[in-house]
Amino acid sequence: MLFFQLQKDHTIPLYEQLYIGIKNAITNNQLAVGVRLPSKRELADFFNISQTTVELAYSQLLAEGYIISKPRVGYFVEEIDSLPYRQSDIANKEIKKTTETLEYKIDFSSAKIDEDAFPFTIWRKYAKDVLDRPFKHLLQTGERQGEHALRIEIANYLHQSRGIECDPEQIVIGSGTEQLLPMILKILDTNSQLAFENPGYSPIPRHQLGQLAIPISVDTDGIVVEQLQKTNANVVYITPSHQFPTGAVLSANRRTQLLNWAAKAPDRFIIEDDYDSEFRYIGKPIPALRGLDVNDRVIYLSTFTKSLMPSLRVAFFVLPPTLVQRYQEHFNYYSSTVPRFEQHILAKFMKDGHFAKHLNRMRKIYRKKHDKCIEVFSNHYPQITISGDSAGTNILVAFRHEKSERELQQVARQNGIHILPLSNYYLTEQHYSKRTFLLGFGNLQLHDIEPNIHQLMEIWEISKKLI
Ligand SMILES: Cc1ncc(COP(=O)(O)O)c(C=O)c1O
Repeated sequence: MLFFQLQKDHTIPLYEQLYIGIKNAITNNQLAVGVRLPSKRELADFFNISQTTVELAYSQLLAEGYIISKPRVGYFVEEIDSLPYRQSDIANKEIKKTTETLEYKIDFSSAKIDEDAFPFTIWRKYAKDVLDRPFKHLLQTGERQGEHALRIEIANYLHQSRGIECDPEQIVIGSGTEQLLPMILKILDTNSQLAFENPGYSPIPRHQLGQLAIPISVDTDGIVVEQLQKTNANVVYITPSHQFPTGAVLSANRRTQLLNWAAKAPDRFIIEDDYDSEFRYIGKPIPALRGLDVNDRVIYLSTFTKSLMPSLRVAFFVLPPTLVQRYQEHFNYYSSTVPRFEQHILAKFMKDGHFAKHLNRMRKIYRKKHDKCIEVFSNHYPQITISGDSAGTNILVAFRHEKSERELQQVARQNGIHILPLSNYYLTEQHYSKRTFLLGFGNLQLHDIEPNIHQLMEIWEISKKLI
């Protein structure tokens, strides 16, 4: 009746083997509904196992509804409407990948950081310290807004480096800009009319933005505030210190215009995304707009994605004091999305001055790479216009070409090179005369930059000036 065997030396316990065997016999209709199963003693004798083992298997089958027990009569196969579950053979299957993960020979992505320069030894030391008994309380749920220790360090950093005065109570930590922006919008009002820089970065997928997003042009002075003033937007998302992706810095005049625009109605707010402002190569650091905000209209947003690593998934926003209460009302059910251990590793790393040191070191490394890119283009490709080169880990290169940006991107891809066109960052269809690409240098080796650029130019058939 039961056509399976039990293996005594198998890693799967006997009772579980028995349970699986009977369950399979039921789901495969080898045991029909209503059939009486052998008594515990009969089955124990049959398989030469203990009655306790049979009892364990039967109670599991009972609990899952495969069999029923009739007192003093026995166990019977139960009718099952649909199979509770099917044994999976996922491990043996070739799984079809849902995302494309291409390996590139050369990666000019602007989102990459220098992997070789990461301070693994120091990070590991803090990780080891924290992942130990004295920190066992971190196994429990932490504060909703993020760990207080980390919020203190972020407040200190903002004061010293970005000219922002804030209390840790105004800071909310989360796992990335994409996760935090919807929270901010909920705090402000779900019906907000949202304006975005065009071109710009959108933490909400473009197809979900739909009618929500009001595109506002960007020029060399940053977002065009006159255009914003003519719309019905009440919230604007901007990158004033280093406009993404053009690299423009919001001019002093536009800053004042923008703050005045926000002050005109109680529901107007500016979301300042300070991404990529840490690495500046020309002039002094650009102070955050939030530092000028006397009317509590700027929500400051930043991330450790570029300054430390994208995989850390730690970002944060700073609310004006007037919005803290609203945050608490809306999110009193919400747990922090960043693991507590990671938060404490980062807090200790910052407290002991390693974050500031790391930024200084990375600024020097990225400056060298940045200067190398500029040098290669000015020495060999003077026909190419460079812009957005005052900060960050990418520059913009623009040139005339008979092929479209898409075609050029495709040619690069076929040759194992990853590079993204400016058109990727527009919310609306745009027509501009020069082909423009974001050339990221974050994770390129310094000595590879020149040959990598030549290789790209060669496949795009852009001639080299011979010097
Ligand atoms: C302007 C801007 N902000 C934020 C991010 C990403 O931030 P996070 O990794 O915290 O989601 C990007 C990524 O390209 C960006 O361009």
